[in-house]
Amino acid sequence: MITLSPSLLSADLSRLGEEIRCVTDAGATYIHIDVMDGAFVKSISYGMPVIKSIRKCTDAVFDVHLMIEEPIRYIDDFAVSGADIITVHQEACKDLPATIAAIKDSGKKAGVAIRPDTAVSVLEDIAGLVDMILVMTVYPGFGGQKFIPESLGRIRETKALLDSKGIKDMDIQVDGGIYLDNVRDVLDAGANVIVAGSSVFRGDAAANVAGFFEIFKEYQ
Ligand code: DX5
Ligand code: ZN
Repeated sequence: MITLSPSLLSADLSRLGEEIRCVTDAGATYIHIDVMDGAFVKSISYGMPVIKSIRKCTDAVFDVHLMIEEPIRYIDDFAVSGADIITVHQEACKDLPATIAAIKDSGKKAGVAIRPDTAVSVLEDIAGLVDMILVMTVYPGFGGQKFIPESLGRIRETKALLDSKGIKDMDIQVDGGIYLDNVRDVLDAGANVIVAGSSVFRGDAAANVAGFFEIFKEYQ
């Protein structure tokens, strides 16, 4: 199943509720929420209070991407705020299995993300513990960056690693620089959860979502 996860980072933050409604009315079932701490990545975005308040305006799946150091400190806070999927960076966790266990204990789905400079092989021991793997297709930290072409090989490598372990139906998410003109490349490589920020919220968001769904139909 292919899923679109519009990233709020590129939305008009003064109208978050309306922006969310616009993409969910157009058929999006996930909302991607990027949390940045100014330490793991340079920028600072938003956190628990924002998630809590937008939780009131939608039933969409909140796909929370934590770009923060030692996220284990905050798992329960994000769970209580309304996250459905909590994704942590492999590079940001001293004890990744314990962090994943904390997410599972909170009753939420767990994802693990890897930066473009992190070897796919780090997933070897943890792939079986998570619900989703996020292969970053830009360096985390900002919206509107250019897709890194080498990511395609890394998506294929991730898929092969999962196959070799007999893990089927695992979600492979991609995030960064995905547009209508390159989304087929990441789908062909094996990704099935597509994060899109600029390509959804710049311009007519409803039409942009529809454009992604048109392409997804080719894969049904
Ligand atoms: C980047 C974030 C992304 C970002 C993607 O660090 O993780 O989710 O919003 O934005 P686009 O789609 O504009 O590259
Ligand atoms: Zn993200």
